[in-house]
Amino acid sequence: MLTPARVFELGCGHGRNATYLASLGCSVDAVDFSAQAIEWAKERAKQARAPVDSQCCSIFDATFTEGSYDLVHDSGSFHHLPRHRRQDYAELVHRALKPGGSYGLVCFRPEGGSGYTDQQVYERASLGGGLGYSEDRLRALWDKAPFSLRVLRQMKKTDRQGHMTQILRDHGCEDTAAAGAAAPS
Ligand SMILES: C[S@@+](CC[C@H](N)C(=O)[O-])C[C@H]1O[C@@H](n2cnc3c(N)ncnc32)[C@H](O)[C@@H]1O
Repeated sequence: MLTPARVFELGCGHGRNATYLASLGCSVDAVDFSAQAIEWAKERAKQARAPVDSQCCSIFDATFTEGSYDLVHDSGSFHHLPRHRRQDYAELVHRALKPGGSYGLVCFRPEGGSGYTDQQVYERASLGGGLGYSEDRLRALWDKAPFSLRVLRQMKKTDRQGHMTQILRDHGCEDTAAAGAAAPS
């Protein structure tokens, strides 16, 4: 299903998912606004001989070809967005995907996040390390046009190193939820 997909990895961090997907033969573009993370991601991809095209900038400033990705993937950056960025984010994902493409998200469950409400985020000028999302909230955000929810489930603990197959099956954090949504065909 994944290869030879074109993948856009949002908030790639040190590049474990981007490199894994590239090693499967996917064509991967990755973005993160941390210069250190991008440096690590480049090093990881180089060592694995799995080319990843990475950019160091906000996901909202990333350069990409609209409508060109089979998969947009995010493990851990969506839950760092305040409320006023969520619509921009959904539009970014939609713009990036091909018709019928897929979006995969791994984010904190409520018990894994800061517990801050959207209001508290603005009052405290902080996300408190990231917001947790209940299944109902994820459904409300992603099971509506132009997306439709395919899978929503809690991740399970694993002793393996986290990467994409675990994200789709059993990611290494019990306080993390995974959701997959599809753009319209
Ligand atoms: C929890 S880490 C996850 C890293 C990686 N996806 C993984 O699963 O190992 C979240 C990453 O998202 C990045 N990030 C958060 N918000 C971002 C934004 N608006 N634009 C670009 N990167 C962002 C952070 O710099 C960080 O590297």
